Order: sequence, then structure tokens, then C-alpha cells
Amino acid sequence: MLSNQANGEGKRTSLHGHWSSRMAFILAVTGSAVGLGNIWKFPYIAGQNGGGAFVLVYLICVVAIGMPVMMSEILIGRRGRRNPVATMALLGEEEGSSRQWLWVGGMGVLAGILILSYYSVVAGWVLAYVAKSATGEFAGASAEEVSSIFANFTGNWKAVALAHTIFMGTTVLVVARGVERGLEQAVRFMVPALLVLMLVLLGYAINSGHFAEGLAFMFTPEWDKLSWDSVLAALGQAFFTLSIGMGAIMAYGAYLPEETSITGASAAVVAADTGIAILAGLVIFPLVFANGLNPGGGPGLVFETLPLAFGQMAGGALFATVFFVLLSFAAWTSALGLVEPAVAWVVEHFYKSRAQAAVIIGAIIWAIGFGSVLSFSVLKDFKFLAGNVYENIDYLTSNIMLPLGGLLITVFAGWVMCRNSTADELGGAGFTFKAWRLLARFITPIGILIVLINAVWPVIKAAIGF
Ligand code: PHE
Repeated sequence: MLSNQANGEGKRTSLHGHWSSRMAFILAVTGSAVGLGNIWKFPYIAGQNGGGAFVLVYLICVVAIGMPVMMSEILIGRRGRRNPVATMALLGEEEGSSRQWLWVGGMGVLAGILILSYYSVVAGWVLAYVAKSATGEFAGASAEEVSSIFANFTGNWKAVALAHTIFMGTTVLVVARGVERGLEQAVRFMVPALLVLMLVLLGYAINSGHFAEGLAFMFTPEWDKLSWDSVLAALGQAFFTLSIGMGAIMAYGAYLPEETSITGASAAVVAADTGIAILAGLVIFPLVFANGLNPGGGPGLVFETLPLAFGQMAGGALFATVFFVLLSFAAWTSALGLVEPAVAWVVEHFYKSRAQAAVIIGAIIWAIGFGSVLSFSVLKDFKFLAGNVYENIDYLTSNIMLPLGGLLITVFAGWVMCRNSTADELGGAGFTFKAWRLLARFITPIGILIVLINAVWPVIKAAIGF
């Protein structure tokens, strides 16, 4: 068992070192939040759920649920200074409840492993698209050609497996190098550079002649089309894109210096992440309409629209290559967040080195990933419950495990932890603290429960023939 070590001020310290500055923490959390969720997943999920109303529900979820969950995760992480499993056990006991809260951390470790199993596959697609862009495969391609390039590539499971292997392998290498060196550096350039390229694409989308249509699709809500399923998808997407509900942010919070403002850091990350997702939508949807594509086309959406735009631009091959390189960096920094709870847990619980833990966890994720590799080829038509293997893993993690994790995390921070502990972490009992506590105790958990009950209960009822 880990001892409750203390530093000079009587506060715990982390076994993995600390962030060198407030900025380093914000960069790491931003790096974890900004990823395929913003650029690949948000547009395709929004498209499948009809746009407008979905986007507004998503924005409400980000502010009213995402923000308080993120603050709760960071404050729990910083107070416990352990991996999410040990932190929840330690604080559960310390706050006079129970060690069994460790299961919240355990569910997060599992969710991270499951998410990365398919995330790595899609990141592999991105790597392949770097090569395709650089060799000019998209130059002047038509919508049909770009679609068949995507279908042919994802249908070739050996090529996809190779790309998935390269992505997981490199992720393991970075994780093995440790907190300070491994995580901090990549994010500094990536997010700003990605933003600049997105703005270039936005300029192109504005000139596509269909910008107004894209804008209307994203922001005109047709409330009668909104089902509980779509509300759950919006909630799940809010959790996924902010990296919350599974302990990634808790694990990063464990390395956060005492004096950093949790509210300020959370607000910065939420704003950057949401901005990039909305920007991605503003780029993708005008292109979808300009080329007569289907906004509900699914996981291929970004891979079919952006190459089309790049293929028609002057210097497009260069822009496309740079874009997909940046997107792979965004995917790597998110992957680091996805494995961090598992790796930190293996290091602390089994006394392994960081490198050993990274290899063990990486191998498990790599193997599970074959379920998703094959979901776009051999096992395409193998469907059960929510769809193919990939769709089931995605539904289970984003729509169930993350919201459930977020629910338990806010209940823990709002009800189990005493007022003094949380006020201490959030910098005193001022206005922000009161607002956070109101959200964390009532609005957030009740909101999540309402959505989960309305969307998941009918599915369970149907499954058991009730
Ligand atoms: N937020 C990341 C993205 O949008 C995915 C992620 C989820 C990363 C959970 C870490 C933890 O791509």
C-alpha cells in the first residue's frame, strides 16, 4: 500500500514529479482535450444527429456539466496526488466515506484502455493520410475519388493494422519517457499551428459558396428532431472531447502545483477545446454541402471532405501534409491522457517502472484495437447492440462510462468531500466556489441522470423484453 507521504507543508506530493509551471499543466490538459474528438468526431456525430439542436445541447453540456466535472477532477487529483484508483480510495477514506470509491478510478482506467483501442486505429488513418497527402494522391480528386480512397484504405485491414501498430508503438515510447520530458513539449506548437491551418481552411470554406448552408445546419435547431439518443450523444461527446469522466484530468491534476487556479485553468481548456470543435464544424459542413455529400455519412466524414478541399487548393498537397501531421500530434497528446490513468496505476500498484507499465498497457490496448481495425473491413457487417465492434466500444465508453464516471466524480466532490477540502483546493469560498458547488451537487449529477435514464433505460428495457 502507498503511504500518505507529506512534503514540508504537510501536503502530499506526487510520485511522478510535478509540472514545471502553470502553463505546462494547461498545455498538457489542452493537448489531451484537443484531438480527434474535435476534428474527426465532433463533425461526424453532429452530422449524424442532425446538426443545430445537437450542437446547442452539446454546448450546454460543455458549460453546465463539462466545466464542473473538469474542476472536480482536477481538485480531487491534486488533493490525492496518486493515480485515479489510489486517489479515490485514499480520499474516500480520508473524507470519512469508503475506500470503495476506488471503483470510479478503476472504471476510468478501463474506459481509457477501451477508448484508446479505437482512437489508435483512427489515428492510424491520420498517419496514412499524411503519406497520401505528401504523395499528391488527393490532387484534383473528385468527391467520388476521395470517398473511394477512404473506403479502399479502411477496407484493407492489413494496412490499417500496420498504421494502428505504428501509432500505439510511438505512444508507448513517449509514455515511457516520463511526465516532464514526454508530455510537456509536443503541445506548445501543435495547438497554435493547428488553429492557423484551421483558419486557412475556414477561408476556403467561406469561399466555397455554401458557407451559409453549413452555418444554418450547425446552428438552426430543429428541436422536434431531437431524441433522447441525440441528447445522450451530445453529452457523451462533451465528456469525450474534454477528456473528462475517466480520470485523465485527475491523473494530470495529481502533478499540479499547489498555487495554480483550478478554475482559470479549466476555463482556458474548455474555451480552447470548444473553439476548435466549432471551427472544425464550420470548415466541414460548408464543404459537405458544396460537394453534395451526406452530413450523416459517419466516421469517414472528415477524411472525405478535407482532402477534397486540399485537392483543389494551390499548394494543397503541402497544406494537407502539414494538416495531417498536426492532427497526428493532436492525437498523440490525447493518447497520452488516455493511457495515463492506467500507466500511473500499474506503476504505483505493481511497482513497475514507467517503461514497463507503458509496454504492458500498450500491448493490451493494441490487441483490443483489432476489434476496431476489422470493424471497417472483415467485420463490417458483424453487428450487435449498438452496431459493429467499434460502435459498441464507442457507445459503451462515451455514452455510458464517461457520463457515469462524471456523475460519481461530482457526487464525490460535491457531497462526500467536506466543504473545507474543496474550498481549500478552489481558492476559498468565494463566488466561483459557490457556483461550482451548486453545479457539482445538483445541476450536473441530476442532468446526467436525467439523460442517462431517458436514453439508456428504454434500450435496456427492449433488450430484456420488458
Ligand atoms: N479529448 C480527446 C479528443 O477529443 C480524447 C480523450 C478522451 C483524451 C479522454 C483523453 C481522455 O480527442
